[in-house]
Amino acid sequence: MKRTHHCNELRPAHVNQTVTLAGWVHSRRDLGGLIFIDVRDREGRTQTVFDPSNLSKELFERAASLRSECVVNITGQVRRRPEGTNNPKIPTGEIEMVATGLEVLNMAEVLPFPVDDPEVAGKVNEELRLKYRYLDLRRPEMARNIRLRSKVATAIRVFMEEQGFLEVETPIMFKSTPEGAREFLVPNRREPGTFYALPQSPQQFKQMLMVGGIERYYQLARCFRDEDQRADRQLEFTQLDLEMSFIDREDIYNLIEGVLKRIWKVALGIDIPTPFKRISFGEALNRWGIDKPDTRFGMELVDFTEEFRASTFKVFSGAIANGGVVKALNAKGLAGATQGQIETMTEYAKSFGAKGLAYIKVEGGEWKSPIVKFFNAAEKAALAQKLAIEEGDLMLFAADQWLNACEILGKIRLYCADVLKGQGKLTIPADRFEFLWVVDFPLLSFDKEQNRWYSSHHPFTAPVAEDIPLLKTDPKKVRGQHYDIVVNGVELGGGSIRIHRPDVQKTVFEDVLQIPPDLVRARFGYMLEAFKYGAPPHGGIALGFDRLMAILCGTPSIRDVIAFPKTAKGTDLMTDSPGAVEPKQLRDLHLELKVAKKE
Ligand code: AMO
Ligand code: AMP
Repeated sequence: MKRTHHCNELRPAHVNQTVTLAGWVHSRRDLGGLIFIDVRDREGRTQTVFDPSNLSKELFERAASLRSECVVNITGQVRRRPEGTNNPKIPTGEIEMVATGLEVLNMAEVLPFPVDDPEVAGKVNEELRLKYRYLDLRRPEMARNIRLRSKVATAIRVFMEEQGFLEVETPIMFKSTPEGAREFLVPNRREPGTFYALPQSPQQFKQMLMVGGIERYYQLARCFRDEDQRADRQLEFTQLDLEMSFIDREDIYNLIEGVLKRIWKVALGIDIPTPFKRISFGEALNRWGIDKPDTRFGMELVDFTEEFRASTFKVFSGAIANGGVVKALNAKGLAGATQGQIETMTEYAKSFGAKGLAYIKVEGGEWKSPIVKFFNAAEKAALAQKLAIEEGDLMLFAADQWLNACEILGKIRLYCADVLKGQGKLTIPADRFEFLWVVDFPLLSFDKEQNRWYSSHHPFTAPVAEDIPLLKTDPKKVRGQHYDIVVNGVELGGGSIRIHRPDVQKTVFEDVLQIPPDLVRARFGYMLEAFKYGAPPHGGIALGFDRLMAILCGTPSIRDVIAFPKTAKGTDLMTDSPGAVEPKQLRDLHLELKVAKKE
């Protein structure tokens, strides 16, 4: 018996046909002398019926012995389900198959957790799911995610080929360039004391492809970063990575808007409007307190520096006198927060460096707060007007240096949104997607501890042309030709127009980033040399493919869209990796352990 149809295929049009299905026993119910078995395969499921009145005793008993997740072939005739027994929840719900043959291909022991319960992801401990990932993948929700991932990858490849891009693979064994995240090192047996490093991204190779005349490159590229793990971060992850020659920022915006439009259509059947909004880094911080704003809800930050410059409330006027600002937001409808909740919020703000979190509750027509007594009528009127204050609102304040004040309130804004969602006061439809470009980032940021400038993104980003003279004189003011693509508060991707002139790249490395010339030569010498031999102007971007898929699948964790993800501790619970190696392997690699391996 060989399968003739998959388990999501049979419809009333197939009635009376003899068919064979192959798959797993999704569920077995014994009812009124009949046995009902739902067979499941990758595509879906179909109900089969075993009726003792037209089956041999042996065959019926074989059906009765089946447990969940046994692997079977079932042959039978398709018929309409009896009146009133249709299952509108599944596409095969109008028919069933009357079994005439059953072959048991493999038995299954009782599973560590059920795979037929759609709620299981919320109930079963994730460690258990990861340990038995091969079972977890059988759950229809996971199967759907993995299938959608493949479908989207294909849509991307088709789109990129249409646009004239070549898919090129770049090395996984690269060399160490410790500029960004911590790297994974691979010892080299052939020369003691030397190491490969796994690439954090194909950045340098894709730029060399442009020097190599490839003009348009893309890759679904695996990247490796030894960073702290979070719901949106893995040690190894995938990017849609691309690079183009002879282009400017507009070309990248167009291309990415095109590919995202295609993806949303293919995956969700949604037409997303383009072009996307563009917001400067400064505006994003000013209004939302973050460089990846979620613009699906309000509660924007409002500046009150001028209003409080001469305030008798010294926390505010003092911060302003120190060159800082006062910003506030209206947490709409949160005046009911208890003292404990406000304290929790204040502690949360302090964990991001806030000195405090002043607040005013608007309750029973009154402004309630220990600080209201310091405010005069004009100050109150300004607050009421600019924050559109109504009964039931909660005002929250940050007085600090501009960036700190923005970032603190940005975190508080998201925190309040979560609270409001929990209380059912804020609902965001699942099919709402707000895309935007964040542009005009500062090229450089200052590291106070090390007392030096570092690249806001990476050292290959080109400065805005008219700002190049400021590189040596006023680095703070130099804008980078960098762009981030953001959707619903998630940083989906980022990229830039690159430096292609050897003199500018050298200035950035040596004069701005203060990397000693011999180190520049050792790490990036080949790049500076390549740029001398006719490097075309070029730029590119990388989208986090796992993050993209998590958004499309509507899950908060990228682990749900990766077949074999790692835990927060960076381990693979299924294969029990990483693990110890044999002493001989270490000797071959000329390595000696300083710590005894843990048993
Ligand atoms: P960047 O470092 O911004 O840029 O990475 C691009 C995108 O990759 C995703 N991403 C991650 N996804 C999962 N786990 C991680 N640990 C992780 N780190 C990053 C994010 C991010 O926006 N070479 C440049 C791109 C360029 O300039 O063209 C780069 O890698 O979605
Ligand atoms: P204090 O005068 O220190 O008792 O602070 C009065 C109120 O202002 C408290 O609610 C503090 O949490 C808050 N507060 C203190 N410093 C700041 C600051 N820099 N920004 C915002 N609120 C602050």
